[in-house]
Amino acid sequence: PLQLTLGLLKPDIFANPVFLDLALARIRAQSHMRIRQATIVQWSPEQAADFYAEHHGKFFYQRLCDYMLSGPFQALVLEGPEVIRDWRALIGPTHPIRARIRQPHTLRAEFGLTDTRNSFHGSDSPANARHEIRKFFPDFIFPKDLE
Ligand code: CMP
Repeated sequence: PLQLTLGLLKPDIFANPVFLDLALARIRAQSHMRIRQATIVQWSPEQAADFYAEHHGKFFYQRLCDYMLSGPFQALVLEGPEVIRDWRALIGPTHPIRARIRQPHTLRAEFGLTDTRNSFHGSDSPANARHEIRKFFPDFIFPKDLE
């Protein structure tokens, strides 16, 4: 079945045109995924609070919101047969410093800065992918054969 996922290229990488191009080239080089839609956004504090509601109260919550509100960023709808897993494998572990040791060829290992400023996001399940895609692409028409 077809899968879709939401990918984010967060404000730090979006602000660096050289890194942004390198990251997009890495995505385009993946034969099992395709960028189906892309948009550039600048969140309001309310949008950040809504998207990260599950992290409210955690020690990194304010840092995370400040980071995501620091500038514009890019949202992608990615498509592929196992794109949720494949995209998370490509971006690598949440913590870029650990990723550099364990999975050095991942995007967070290469471009991520810190635990919070980890440059990329990927949905973790088909249900969350739908939910997150709707937030960034309210007019998106989900295909019928979607997992
Ligand atoms: P992401 O998985 O896209 O969404 C939640 C974000 O919270 C995560 O990326 C990081 O940016 C941030 N985050 C998660 N865990 C930590 C942590 N332990 N310390 C700091 N930031 C974190």
